[in-house]
Amino acid sequence: MENITKICCIGAGYVGGPTMAMIAKKCPHIQVTVVDLNEARIKAWNDEDVNNIPVYEPGLSDVVAEARGRNLFFSTEVDKAIDEAQMIFISVNTPTKTYGAGKGQAADLKWIELCARQIANISKDNKIIVEKSTLPVRTASAIKDILTHTGNGVQFQILSNPEFLAEGTAVEDLDAPDRVLIGGDNTPEGKVAVQALVDIYANWVPKERILTTNVWSSELSKLTANAFLAQRVSSINSLTEICEQTEADINEVAKAIGTDSRIGPKFLKASVGFGGSCFQKDILNLVYIARSYGLQEVADYWEQVIIMNDHQKRRFANQIIKNLYNTVNGKKIAFFGWAFKKDTNDTRESAAIYVADHLLNEQAHISVYDPKVPENQVYADLDYLNTREAEENKAGVQVITDPYEACKGSHAIAVLTEWDEFKGYDWQRIYDNMLKPAKIFDGRNLLDADKLRAIGFQVRSIGTNVLDK
Ligand code: NAD
Ligand code: UDX
Repeated sequence: MENITKICCIGAGYVGGPTMAMIAKKCPHIQVTVVDLNEARIKAWNDEDVNNIPVYEPGLSDVVAEARGRNLFFSTEVDKAIDEAQMIFISVNTPTKTYGAGKGQAADLKWIELCARQIANISKDNKIIVEKSTLPVRTASAIKDILTHTGNGVQFQILSNPEFLAEGTAVEDLDAPDRVLIGGDNTPEGKVAVQALVDIYANWVPKERILTTNVWSSELSKLTANAFLAQRVSSINSLTEICEQTEADINEVAKAIGTDSRIGPKFLKASVGFGGSCFQKDILNLVYIARSYGLQEVADYWEQVIIMNDHQKRRFANQIIKNLYNTVNGKKIAFFGWAFKKDTNDTRESAAIYVADHLLNEQAHISVYDPKVPENQVYADLDYLNTREAEENKAGVQVITDPYEACKGSHAIAVLTEWDEFKGYDWQRIYDNMLKPAKIFDGRNLLDADKLRAIGFQVRSIGTNVLDK
């Protein structure tokens, strides 16, 4: 295949938008068109004010501003973009199935298949198809099956190129990735396709960081990387409960084990539980794959990571209830943070949703402040759980745009997201406006507990045994 000059990406979400913006920035000689069925999303990517793009990521609006209209385009004309492109990235959502076989575990590949069929229908010349979405191992064979039975003589090469960016640091991660992984067929045509994609990344990624493997290793490595990362969080979180019983301090334990170079310091931050659209979905998928091959012990092993995470979220909510004298009925509890981590507006699988749901069952009144999450998203997240009527969620939860208002008159503050701005608040002012005893449940070990105690707060951090009475 000749040099790639036209790329299309199907799916303008948290992955498609930022990854393609970075390719466009680094490769001005390549025309990059990102398409999506969601008109509102495309409209937002094209918003005149680049601060209104639909994905909040530090630095992203600058990258988009540089390339948009030059060689980066956002469009709803999916067929046209497929037709024109030599290389097509598929970056659509692959959520956990909510129906039928594999419900609650398997990845729903409905959108992947729709893309493959659309590509098959539209293509008139040879193309390279790149799996950017996270997919179960061996999905490429299904895509190939669909694409090779079109009868129009068009040749397709299928590559796996999973994305490892983390939200909140997407621009940094894309600019200087630890590695780029490209899986392809070990045939002459497969090798040419792999090289075409290597050449694109080589515009800014050092060659030794571009790893090439067979397609299946690449697909499985993505699920595995997420499983390993999530396992670290569940491992440290499992120890928080022991710390709370034994006067060990989880921050000290994390530091002590993290200085062993074989363990390393990252991803050992105790928390209210991991969230995000990837970890749970990908581990459940791994569990499903293992079970489908009859590998019961392997499935059970990884499933425990999710079980521990669910336990941690529930435990946090229960601690709030217990500490508020075993009832939160009618009590106002302020939530600082709703996003699943700082520096993103994404709330998918955020621990805050589950903690709120638990407290609402106990008739608490919750007031939420998050610097980037809009009101309608908070209600949509709660409604999606289907625990109660939408009106009841509206009655039980208020979304407030001023943090000081959010905690005025409250019995307690729960920190659910580690937004930096929380650290700089006027905590004396907050204390003065709360009911006493004023309590803080720090689900991120973000705040300086000693300083807060000096003001008069009762503080409960994760994995420390300081039990304020
Ligand atoms: P997303 O839901 O934000 O975006 C997916 C987009 O695809 C949506 O806007 C949807 O409208 C669009 N879409 C679906 N079917 C389509 C079709 N047939 N034609 C055109 N558009 C279509 O999802 P995301 O977070 O960007 O994730 C995409 C994939 O990347 C998933 O497989 C996910 O597991 C993986 N991934 C996500 C992250 C992350 O941090 N979010 C990181 C690495 C990998
Ligand atoms: C993750 C992977 O890191 C990334 O490589 C992959 O491409 C997508 O999935 P993401 O979910 O965006 O990225 O964020 P990440 O930083 O991994 O955090 C996931 C969750 O774990 C967040 O809720 C975060 O708060 C939590 N976490 C992370 C902890 O509780 N403790 C930690 O030490 C690290």
